[in-house]
Amino acid sequence: MSRIATLEIDGKKYEFPIVEGTENEIAIDIKSLRGSTGGITTLDPGYKNTGSCESAITFLNGEKGVLRYRGYSIEELAEKANFLEVAYLLIFGELPTRAQLDKFHSDIKAQSHVDEDVKKILDGFPKSAHPMGVLSSLTSALVAFNPSSVNVDSEEDMYNAIVRILAKFPVLTAWAYRKRAGLPLDYGDDSLGYVDNFLKMMFKKPNGEYASDKKVVDALDKLLILHADHEQNCSTSTVRIVGSSHAGLFASLSAGINALWGPLHGGANQAVIEMLEAIKEDGGDTKKFMAKAKDKEDPFRLMGFGHRVYKNFDPRAKIIKKSADEVLESLGIQDEVLDIAKGLEREALEDSYFVDRKLYPNVDFYSGIIYRALGIPVEMFTPMFALGRLPGWIAQWREMRLRKEPIGRPRQVYIGETQRSFKPIENR
Ligand code: SDX
Repeated sequence: MSRIATLEIDGKKYEFPIVEGTENEIAIDIKSLRGSTGGITTLDPGYKNTGSCESAITFLNGEKGVLRYRGYSIEELAEKANFLEVAYLLIFGELPTRAQLDKFHSDIKAQSHVDEDVKKILDGFPKSAHPMGVLSSLTSALVAFNPSSVNVDSEEDMYNAIVRILAKFPVLTAWAYRKRAGLPLDYGDDSLGYVDNFLKMMFKKPNGEYASDKKVVDALDKLLILHADHEQNCSTSTVRIVGSSHAGLFASLSAGINALWGPLHGGANQAVIEMLEAIKEDGGDTKKFMAKAKDKEDPFRLMGFGHRVYKNFDPRAKIIKKSADEVLESLGIQDEVLDIAKGLEREALEDSYFVDRKLYPNVDFYSGIIYRALGIPVEMFTPMFALGRLPGWIAQWREMRLRKEPIGRPRQVYIGETQRSFKPIENR
């Protein structure tokens, strides 16, 4: 017997089916709401209570701090898988066999060149341009050089567009960094793994050889896995809604990059390090910054803390915090801001303001400390988040298109002027 929800308005009752997911989440299916009530809609700014879709990609339970990609726990994947394997899992739904992963990687390598004319677009940016703005522009520009990536009506077309962007995005990300650093734009080396190759494109000195460091490769690989997907977050919802108009994959991803740039979302990892550095410069007085974070008159927020869904520890933050200790120790690096971060965490978790609001460290709180230890500059932290989230965005866009979801077009409640007559300017 399927469950129903009953809504009563002005004495009239309306019934709506209840949808139940495989993890026992339930939702009221209101597809018929406007039609059956003569135009009544719901109102939910920020969509805090609204499900935009049914999805089989990522499950998270904010109360229990659970995160799974296609049923596999983030803890197991971070420990046992590599990033390209996880990308395949998210996009196609199953962990690849060795042959499938090798073919996926060789198809990506075959597309890892970027048209030389894209460099002319990059040249047009000032060195001071934020890499996220450069990346969203270059990703959108890629459409012009890969027109077949737009009309992905067949799974083959979609696959070709997917391997193209997985191949070219790391190149563009490395180029955005090298442009700021005043370094010549470098290409990768097909003999290297996906993440190792990216690090080579980033850090190979013009006059020297690139030496892979397994510790660095493994640390970045794990960080990218932890960022790979997170159900219907702000940037993923952006990718979905842009893609729902049947805009191409690259255009949809470019929109997602811009959404991720915001300091309340992916931009938080850069804001966290800037906050920790400010605390260090200020003599390490965390109590002053905690007071600012709690002061409603002060716009300052404790960056890297709080989450729309996690009202418990962000499981990714736990893994990254442990990895930060390991990476810094293995690289023989002392970073004072790691101790400041741990101190802030301790204080916040004992402070009723944070405890009552269930504000815990999120994925962005410790990640910048590892990026910095790997030699990645702070303005490249959010591009690292984008590099990690790329397969998740692709998987969600692909699912939305394969499920033939309708174009996204929310309604509103109008609160403006009621009808009035035009007044000639001489009478205003
Ligand atoms: C990501 O959605 C995702 O899954 C995102 C992400 C992903 O993988 O895609 O997980 C990645 O974006 C992580 C979040 C990174 N952002 C930050 O670290 C920025 C700091 N955090 C906040 O701005 C905030 O916590 C949000 C934006 C993350 C969540 O905001 P919500 O859910 O809209 O919560 P809210 O603003 O309604 O806050 C509830 C209360 C408010 O106080 P009251 O009005 O109840 O008194 O908590 C307070 C807020 O003022 N609060 C904070 C705070 N976060 C919330 N107070 C101080 N510092 C903070 N960080």
